[in-house]
Amino acid sequence: MPLINRRTFLQGSAALGGAFALGAGMAARAGATPDPQLLTAQFTQAKIAGDAVTPKVMTYGLGETQAKGTPPVLRMRKGEPYAARLINRLDEPTTVHWHGLRIANAMDGVPELTQPYVYPGDPFDYVFTPPDAGTFWYHPHCNTLTQMGSGLTGVIVVENPEDPVFDAEIVLNLRDWRLGAGGAFIDAFKPRDAARGGTYGTVRTANWQQEPTYDAPAGGLVRVRIAATDVTRIYTIGLEGAGAMVIALDGNPVDTPFPLDRYDFGPGQRVDLALRMPDSEGQTVSLGNFRGSHPWTIARFRAIGTSLKRDLRDVAPLPANPISEADLSVATRVPIDLSATAEHRATPSICGSLGYTFWAINEVPWPGDTPDPIAPIEEMKLGKSYVLQIANRTPHAHPIHLHGLSFRILNSNKRTFLPPPTDTILLLPDEQAEVALVADNLGDWVIHCHIIEHQKTGMTGYFKVV
Ligand code: C2O
Ligand code: CU
Repeated sequence: MPLINRRTFLQGSAALGGAFALGAGMAARAGATPDPQLLTAQFTQAKIAGDAVTPKVMTYGLGETQAKGTPPVLRMRKGEPYAARLINRLDEPTTVHWHGLRIANAMDGVPELTQPYVYPGDPFDYVFTPPDAGTFWYHPHCNTLTQMGSGLTGVIVVENPEDPVFDAEIVLNLRDWRLGAGGAFIDAFKPRDAARGGTYGTVRTANWQQEPTYDAPAGGLVRVRIAATDVTRIYTIGLEGAGAMVIALDGNPVDTPFPLDRYDFGPGQRVDLALRMPDSEGQTVSLGNFRGSHPWTIARFRAIGTSLKRDLRDVAPLPANPISEADLSVATRVPIDLSATAEHRATPSICGSLGYTFWAINEVPWPGDTPDPIAPIEEMKLGKSYVLQIANRTPHAHPIHLHGLSFRILNSNKRTFLPPPTDTILLLPDEQAEVALVADNLGDWVIHCHIIEHQKTGMTGYFKVV
């Protein structure tokens, strides 16, 4: 059962052995880099749709042994160096992007722009220090629709020793799969859907299981970390059978935890809940998706043991992450227009092309990962403040993700609740929002829609921070 409390986590990491687990703290104090965790991108097979076996599933494993099931939850510590050696055992190039981590540009995982392709059989070393604690995730940035769609999406937990301690922690990696009746993959997308809201999966899972049940202490406070890693689906989550407080969104703590009613979040986004389990053993809570006309169950939590009798009102706010606030009085305004574009054929690229262009940012459709990329949307000066005036000129929602920099939503014509700083804003149809950031990280930072068909058919651009 992936019910992890601090003790089982410590035992687990000790089992990884030697220098890494035991020396991580000391290495950080000495400023040294720990030995890398081996992260092997590889093929596997899995039972995702009932008893049918899906071949050619892609996953990550720790070490060189054959991995089974969901990519591992990677655990790091805020402010301490982390190292991973990607080993590519796929039959095509790949990279790893650490979604939401504000790390050095050379570690960001975007082929051509920040690093070379990692070809089959090759390794690539990632070394960085996560500045923020919270729930993040990792995935390839090459042939992304196929690779993510085939399984390569994993959750990252960046721990902060100052975080309140919970009775248990449950990590949920939410995603769909496009599988046919026999369990095999079907076409990753349909062009007519890519030109609209995106192509949906046929099987919906949490941690690669349909409606899994997790045990948690009765009457306990459970930290539930939820990541939407699907390539298309936008969720509207809600709970039945218990109450919960929203404590963080997209990795960043909310100022004041608030009760979960219904919450919308899209591909790339995360929600952290403090869930108060029911008091009697055997009682279950269900986490549902209430978007659309047919609500369905994502996962269940079953109370075990005698009640710990915790109180949701005891949930303390999490300590904030060190994100700079923009100086609005001097900020440079940058318009970001999201629109559809005349359909045309896209140029092929090593990291895959869907063969079409449907979308554009500021009227420029991204040509794909090429050795000479198009001009940046804006050249930003290190340390300066910017306000992005994002306008969604389409009748579809777009979760817009920015690498390497976090931003704060200042206002919007469609929302009243303004979340804490984020790396991904779910822009509603016809929404216009202003978001502010400090360009405090050097390099080329991609901004794109996280509905991967939109990203890959034009809705991508980048900023250059110099
Ligand atoms: Cu989560 Cu550019 O990606
Ligand atoms: Cu989009």
